[in-house]
Amino acid sequence: MRLKLGHLVSWLLTTCLISRTLVKAQDPWSEAEILLQNSVKRTDPIASSSKQFSSDYGVEETNLYIPMDYSLEREELKYAKYWESEATDWSRKVYQLLWESSNNYNNPQATNVLANMHLWSDYGIPHNKTLAYEYLNKYNELTNFSDSDTLFQLAVMHSTGLFGTIPVDPVKGLLYYQRSASLGDIRAKQALAYKYLSGINVPRDCNKALLLYREIADQVRNSYSDQQWEVIFPYVESYNVRIPDFSEGLLGRSLSSMALSTKRMASARPDITSSFLTKMNGGNIVLQFGLGSSSSSFSSDPDEDNVDRLVDIFFTAWDDYKGTYTRGRNCERARKLLEFTYREYDGDVRLMDNLQRFFYGRCLDLLGHIYFTGEGLDSPNIELSEKYLKRSVIVIESSQSLISRANIDLGLIQQFYYKNDTTAIGFYERILESKNHNGVVYFQLAKLKKKYPHLKLSDPFLLMFTACSRNYVPAIYEYARMTEQGVNKRYNCEETAYLYKNFLEAEEISVAPHLKTAYAELLNRNSEVALWAYTLAAEQGFETAHVSAAYLLYQLPCNFEEPPRTLHARKLMALAYYTRAFKQDNLDAGVVAGDVYYLMGNYTSALNMYQSASLKFSPQAIWDLGYMYEHGLGVEKDFHLAKRYYDQVLEHNSRLYFAVKLSVWKLKLKSWLALITGGKVYGWRREDFEPGAKPQSWYQKIVKSFQKAGRENSGSSSGDPQYQQNSQYRQHQEQNQQHHQQNHTSSLWDRFQSLGLHMEDLVSIAFVLLIFLVSLVLRVVAARRGWNMNNMQFQVNALGGNFELQVFAI
Ligand SMILES: *[C@@H]1O[C@H](CO)[C@@H](O)[C@H](O)[C@H]1NC(C)=O
Ligand SMILES: *[C@@H]1O[C@H](CO)[C@@H](O)[C@H](O)[C@H]1NC(C)=O
Ligand SMILES: *[C@@H]1O[C@H](CO)[C@@H](O)[C@H](O)[C@H]1NC(C)=O
Ligand SMILES: *[C@@H]1O[C@H](CO)[C@@H](O)[C@H](O)[C@H]1NC(C)=O
Ligand SMILES: *[C@@H]1O[C@H](CO)[C@@H](O)[C@H](O)[C@H]1NC(C)=O
Repeated sequence: MRLKLGHLVSWLLTTCLISRTLVKAQDPWSEAEILLQNSVKRTDPIASSSKQFSSDYGVEETNLYIPMDYSLEREELKYAKYWESEATDWSRKVYQLLWESSNNYNNPQATNVLANMHLWSDYGIPHNKTLAYEYLNKYNELTNFSDSDTLFQLAVMHSTGLFGTIPVDPVKGLLYYQRSASLGDIRAKQALAYKYLSGINVPRDCNKALLLYREIADQVRNSYSDQQWEVIFPYVESYNVRIPDFSEGLLGRSLSSMALSTKRMASARPDITSSFLTKMNGGNIVLQFGLGSSSSSFSSDPDEDNVDRLVDIFFTAWDDYKGTYTRGRNCERARKLLEFTYREYDGDVRLMDNLQRFFYGRCLDLLGHIYFTGEGLDSPNIELSEKYLKRSVIVIESSQSLISRANIDLGLIQQFYYKNDTTAIGFYERILESKNHNGVVYFQLAKLKKKYPHLKLSDPFLLMFTACSRNYVPAIYEYARMTEQGVNKRYNCEETAYLYKNFLEAEEISVAPHLKTAYAELLNRNSEVALWAYTLAAEQGFETAHVSAAYLLYQLPCNFEEPPRTLHARKLMALAYYTRAFKQDNLDAGVVAGDVYYLMGNYTSALNMYQSASLKFSPQAIWDLGYMYEHGLGVEKDFHLAKRYYDQVLEHNSRLYFAVKLSVWKLKLKSWLALITGGKVYGWRREDFEPGAKPQSWYQKIVKSFQKAGRENSGSSSGDPQYQQNSQYRQHQEQNQQHHQQNHTSSLWDRFQSLGLHMEDLVSIAFVLLIFLVSLVLRVVAARRGWNMNNMQFQVNALGGNFELQVFAI
């Protein structure tokens, strides 16, 4: 008995042990899964900022993290440092479990989570391209090439080489796109369609492109209910923007030819913001003012104060309604503010002047619109909506000739709620009289005209075209359908394909939700993850994403800066993306592509880019062409042609008047110098710059030499070995140059050159001095003779706006 008991005990013990080792030897995926489920995959900086309410309301601060340089060593250091010191116990544990599960058990799910961790920085694990590719590839094999999302991402990796991580292999990329598309991935289909439309890696084939685009467009169209499509098309917070547009565009404010894509910036209002908004706690709005309440704080000019306040309220609510790039949408808060405004002000409409009425009317219109769409509410409330909309019409239209936007929603209510088309058309026609052009009106009228052909309206095709050109999203689709069916016999494959493409790109919620991720990751300081997200969208054909991705890869340096230090593969990809954006009619991107070529010393290609962009009338490109001809870069020197180009700039951008005139004068002086020195100074010979080196102007040289002196004085101040190497290399180069120059017979010019100054710079300096002298003399003379200085001042100011810029341009 005792023995048996002993046996039993030992048997029990061994089974326990065995089962324990069995548990130990099990795939740890399930354990990891539980850990993952209790954690946050991704923080959303936009949503979280919308919850709090800071005192500087209305001030949009977009702290986008866009590093200039990229170096593999630095990324590797950062990655190593994370695992050494920054990683939490949780991430170490999860990572270990996932690693075991993937490497020892080939668990597909664990492999997928690992791939996404490294690619998208999920759960705060740092981005690592090598590992991302490895795990994604492994997951693809584990799932037998059947996961469309993975195939799409791998396709993008092969087409781009993941910016130097793997070899660029467009053929493989294409195969993966095709496989992914055949498994139904919308993004892959879109990318393929874009390739066929523009002939990237495949022969151009408009019909194939059209077929693909139409297929996805139908799919997206059918994801909407009829109610949404016909009556209220859902509002979307768009992140379809070019990153450089957050800071005045690709070429800067006065030089860019493209309109800014940032349409949802916080409204700029007169800055009396804080005067009335004293406290807002989680939607509980406490306002501290009131018309007629005899408060002493604004006794001096109550009228003006009230205008400001109504303007302020309207734009505050409007920003909440549309959502800005830093603050998510909050319809409820907008509604509460507007309701409060209604209660507070409605009794005093009689006392308001026109401007006050206008903004008060717009407040009511927005309030009515919110009730009509039911955003931030359980359901729409048509009665309340009608009440506010009608009030808006009365307030705005009673005293002035303006037409309230509220007529649109009133028309929609008549048409779809009361089914009274006649009254609806009345409202729409009123809106047409006003300057308030909104696509939805034309869209509805086009449909009504089809229903009632006897109406005195223009052709439905034209109406739909107008709605489409005003970017009303359903109208783009409907118009594309009409052209495709050959209405008005205007079928054109390419045009139709572009229409469908535009429609899909307006549909970013369905086809490119990663645009929002990309923007959020820039706020989160994960620029490489953002780059990946923009790359996906760029491969899908978004023009804005092409610019954004290219901008993250390679930004043009400002005046005094050196060009970014980055990998060659990244430069090439940036060039490809800038060029593709240019082919989609972004002129500025064409100029930037030219500049990048120029900085790489590839003058032939730079010249080609400038030439293509100048054919589309980009003033900056024409200017650059003039410069290339003036200096004989990539072409034979030709002062006459250069002058022609400089003069042409004026035709397209009169703001550059000053700079153009100076350049032309300088050019004249130069050709005159060339003439009297027999071509020695400014002959038609290649001078100054050896190919490949970036030409530097005098101010850059001065700055450089200061930098150099500083560096030498402080010894090895920067601990970055690569940087030191670089500067050593530069010094070496400079010494070489000096050697070279000492060999020359020392003419006067050569001596200047050995000082680091070129003839070019001397002429520039002379000109700037001359301008200052002339303006000084003018002022003195003017003061003596008592000329009207106010006029002068005005002119000087007009010039002054661009003066700095124009001096740099020279
Ligand atoms: C990626 O991870 C590998 C393996 O841990 C590491 O050797 C490499 O340095 C990392 N690369 C980067 C760019 O962080
Ligand atoms: C993968 O596909 C091959 C044939 O294409 C098939 O033999 C194999 O069983 C599949 N494996 C899985 C896991 O589906
Ligand atoms: C539409 O409304 C107008 C004015 O409210 C009314 O006179 C007309 O009878 C209505 N028509 C229909 C079909 O209900
Ligand atoms: C300039 O760029 C073009 C296009 O990328 C390339 O084909 C050409 O070889 C480059 N020329 C030089 C001199 O680098
Ligand atoms: C410049 O001088 C160096 C030695 O000081 C010599 O090797 C080189 O050939 C000379 N070059 C010219 C163009 O005279």
